[in-house]
Amino acid sequence: MDRNLALEFVRVTEAAAIAAAKWVGKGDAKAADGAAVDAMRDRFNQIDFSGVVVIGEGQKDEAPELYTGEKIGKGTGLAMDIAVDPLECTSSVAHGRPNALSVIASGPRGSLFSAPDTYMEKLAVGKVAAKVIDIDAPVGETVRKVAKALGKTSKEVTVVVLDRPRHEKLIGKIRKAGARVQLITDGDVAAGIATCLPESPTDILMGIGGSTEAVLAAAAIKVLGGELLCRFAPQDEKHEALVKKAGLTRKKIYRTRDLVKGNMVTFTATGVVDGPLLLGVRFAKERITTHSLVIRGQSGTIRYITTHHRYGR
Ligand code: FBP
Repeated sequence: MDRNLALEFVRVTEAAAIAAAKWVGKGDAKAADGAAVDAMRDRFNQIDFSGVVVIGEGQKDEAPELYTGEKIGKGTGLAMDIAVDPLECTSSVAHGRPNALSVIASGPRGSLFSAPDTYMEKLAVGKVAAKVIDIDAPVGETVRKVAKALGKTSKEVTVVVLDRPRHEKLIGKIRKAGARVQLITDGDVAAGIATCLPESPTDILMGIGGSTEAVLAAAAIKVLGGELLCRFAPQDEKHEALVKKAGLTRKKIYRTRDLVKGNMVTFTATGVVDGPLLLGVRFAKERITTHSLVIRGQSGTIRYITTHHRYGR
């Protein structure tokens, strides 16, 4: 993986984050997403690489830009798989809620799992607890084992869960196990990765979220030494059909290494609205400030980049 390419991608997420941030709180999720997609695609196409979108805005007939299979980049240089979410948490941006990011994961061709856009059951933890988790284990057992690995009691463990009616029973089980539940309105990419950060206030991500988000989070979790276990959990017949059409099943358990192969991967994200991973975009009189995270698998380097952009440049 070209070192400069990893840093080029931060310019892409910065541009998408700034474009989306102009729509924070305006109630228009579609416009926010459209602005991020346009900016991301435009920036990608200024870079010397041959990318193929393996996780994007949908299939070709559903999305005019950054659709799965679309070729991006100048078409020269390294051949790469690209997974994107130009705006993770579109509705958070529309409603001025926290936790929105612009995200890219990349790797050599064939390294990223091109998951159909449906749901997956997820269980994510950081490095210290990576070896003790089992997605089939009862919730109470997972909480106990993770607590032990972290040197905590079950009462001191915090589990992040998307605030959705489908998680009612899961939340009950977590609380019965004595742990705390942190409910989030959106954004299980940032929440999953945050479990891998030192001194993170959250220890486990549990519950059902987007499958494409699982691949994006896995790229960072893998390099940070954590683990994300997941399996398809389509929520209706349409989604069942998507899994079937892709020749996949509900039964297979995916680990980070199945979602993201090898160590030549990168993860790049820029905050749109403040969240557990990054601060959002700040607009000041003369400058726009962005906060980004760049992770390179090959070296294991983690960079936090604060950039001050001049208006109009
Ligand atoms: P978007 O980027 O599509 O807005 O996704 C936000 C998100 O909260 C993800 O983080 C999560 O994986 C998914 O939605 C959960 O889906 P749903 O909102 O349908 O429960």
